[in-house]
Amino acid sequence: MELIQKKRDGGRLSREELEFLIQGYVRGEIPDYQMAAWAMAVYFQGMEPEEITDLTLIMAGSGDTLDLSGIRGVKVDKHSTGGVADTTTLVLAPLVASAGVPVAKMSGRGLGHTGGTVDKLESIPGYRTALSPQEFIDQVNRIGVGVVGQTGELAPADKLLYALRDVTATIESIPLIASSIMSKKIAAGADGFVLDVKVGSGAFMKEEEQAVAMAKAMVQIGTLAGKATVALVTDMNEPLGRCIGNALEVKEAILTLQGQGPAHLTELCLQLGTEMLLLAGAAAQAGEARAKLEESLFSGAALEKFKEWVAAQGGDARVAEDLSLLPQARHRASLKAPRAGYIQGIDPLALGLAAMHLGAGRETKDSTIDLAVGIELKVRSGDYVEAGADLAEIYANDQGRLEAAFQEALAAFALGGEKPPARPLVYRKITAEDV
Ligand code: URA
Repeated sequence: MELIQKKRDGGRLSREELEFLIQGYVRGEIPDYQMAAWAMAVYFQGMEPEEITDLTLIMAGSGDTLDLSGIRGVKVDKHSTGGVADTTTLVLAPLVASAGVPVAKMSGRGLGHTGGTVDKLESIPGYRTALSPQEFIDQVNRIGVGVVGQTGELAPADKLLYALRDVTATIESIPLIASSIMSKKIAAGADGFVLDVKVGSGAFMKEEEQAVAMAKAMVQIGTLAGKATVALVTDMNEPLGRCIGNALEVKEAILTLQGQGPAHLTELCLQLGTEMLLLAGAAAQAGEARAKLEESLFSGAALEKFKEWVAAQGGDARVAEDLSLLPQARHRASLKAPRAGYIQGIDPLALGLAAMHLGAGRETKDSTIDLAVGIELKVRSGDYVEAGADLAEIYANDQGRLEAAFQEALAAFALGGEKPPARPLVYRKITAEDV
């Protein structure tokens, strides 16, 4: 009760006090109602940077942690706060590995309108997302890359606290979100982090100011925890790539590794990859890092690394040459422009939800997903279309769901007479110096 009172009155909890609170909660000695009161006090009073870092490290240490010290080199992880048509991990992992930086990544599943890397990878026939820690470490030492689902129980304190926050109106607190994300990242063992903090209508943070505050909080935690950390604040007012849905996003990643990906996705991969190479010390400055990545991408080395990685995890690497080996939907339909005009905007949230209703995403944690279904965009904001031109292709396995998603997806496109102004892809870079 004294700790709740201290936070309620704007005080700062010490590391010992936070340990008492969090460890007591995990052991079941502190009841939900007291934890909820503390979370609400944090919501209103905020936390000091060292206090947020203490909370993060206590949560990171509350369960299993992955020890990646057996992997040679500096391991840099990339984390996105969640977007739509954002398949950067599938491109970045082999791209960065082919430029000589080891990538040992633990990824999650999708929930709601955003996708998850582990689900996407499971659309590659045979791909194993569950490796033992030793298999994972050996593979990264052998070929430089591995991507697995979560093993063991990482940051169980965060899991409990997140579920409590979800039902007590305390999710939307920057210290609590930043510590929640970073606790899981730190438990997964990387030496440094490149964070992609999304901002816009399809993101958790709708306004740039909020996203910058979140990016600063996460960079500060990483830095105080002794991990090199940078964040890019990037646009999510429109889907990043063209494909939304699991097998479709694998197809898009392969096309990108063949040098034929959408411009925005390719550019963001090069920018995030540049930050990863810099943090790992594989290049002295950004121009050199980018040149290495472009060389890997356009010479086909990154695509070869993708095949090596997929094969090492039991997957059918022939998908990289023959996209028809990926799961295919039974039905497809073209969404047509109802009239001529400029595309003013494409709402990522509406399309993410339409794809989820087709079966590409989970409405609840226990939903099963359909790997083949989704939406493929044919246009971007600023394009001019004639009446009847293709806006998107919808892929479905159920005729009823196809019809419902069709209307939902159509509503995502805004058409108008004027060409809209272009938006930046990257708004800000936040480094340790900025915090
Ligand atoms: N994602 C997380 O992992 N934690 C939060 O608190 C919010 C989003």
